[in-house]
Amino acid sequence: MKQGKFITLEGIDGAGKSTQLAWIVELLQRVGIPTVVTREPGGTALGEKLRDMLLDGSLMIYPETEALLMFAARREHLGRVILPALKEGQWVISDRFTDASFAYQGGGRELDAGKLDILEHWVQGDLQPDLTLYFDVPVEVGRQRVSQGGSMDRFEQEQAGFFQRVRAAYLNRAKQFPDRIKLIDSSQSLAEVKAAVERTLQCVLNHG
Ligand SMILES: Nc1ncnc2c1ncn2[C@@H]1O[C@H](COP(=O)(O)OP(=O)(O)O)[C@@H](O)[C@H]1O
Ligand SMILES: [Mg+2]
Repeated sequence: MKQGKFITLEGIDGAGKSTQLAWIVELLQRVGIPTVVTREPGGTALGEKLRDMLLDGSLMIYPETEALLMFAARREHLGRVILPALKEGQWVISDRFTDASFAYQGGGRELDAGKLDILEHWVQGDLQPDLTLYFDVPVEVGRQRVSQGGSMDRFEQEQAGFFQRVRAAYLNRAKQFPDRIKLIDSSQSLAEVKAAVERTLQCVLNHG
C-alpha cells in the first residue's frame, strides 16, 4: 500500500490553522483521500496530559523542561498515531509539529536551536513532514483574532515581544526549508487564504 502524506500546519495563535485544517480535510475528502486529524502538543492519551500541563498558566516551567516535554509528547505521537496512519496509507494532518518547537521554544523562549536539533534527531531520525503550511500573520492581527475567545493559556499570556520572536523564527525556518515549508499570507481574507491553501495542496496532489 502506498504510504500516506504527512502535512503540518504552523503559525502563531489566530493565524487561522484550525480554520484551514477543516478546509484541507474537506479538499482531501473530495478526492477520496482518507485523513487523520491530530494536533501538537497532544494527539495521544499521554500527549494530551502533557498538553494540559504545558498550557497551564499557573505552572512555572523552564524553557528546557518545556522543550523536553514537547518532544516527549512528540515521540508518543509519532509512534502511536502518525507513523501507523501513514503506513496504512492515510494522510495525517497535524495542527503544529516540530517547527513549532523551533519557533516557540527556540524563538520565543530563546533556547539554543542546536539543542532542539539534537532532540529532533533523537525523536524523529530523518522523518520530516511532506508539506508544511506556515500561516503568516502580523502578531497584532493574530492577537486580535484570538482575543475574542475566553481565558488565555500559558503561551497566550506572553507579551507581544515573545510572539514577534516566534514569528521571526517561523519565517527563518520557512527560508531555511523552502521546498517543505510553504508560506501563506494569512492576513488576507478567509476566501483568499482558502484559495492559496487549495493551490498549494493541488501541487502536492499533482506531483505525488
Ligand atoms: N483569513 C482570516 N480572516 C479573518 N479572520 C480569520 C481568518 N482566518 C481565521 N480567522 C478567524 O480568526 C480566529 C482564529 O482562527 P483559528 O483558525 O482558530 O486560528 P489558529 O488555529 O491558528 O489559532 C477565528 O475566529 C477565525 O474565524
Ligand atoms: Mg487552532
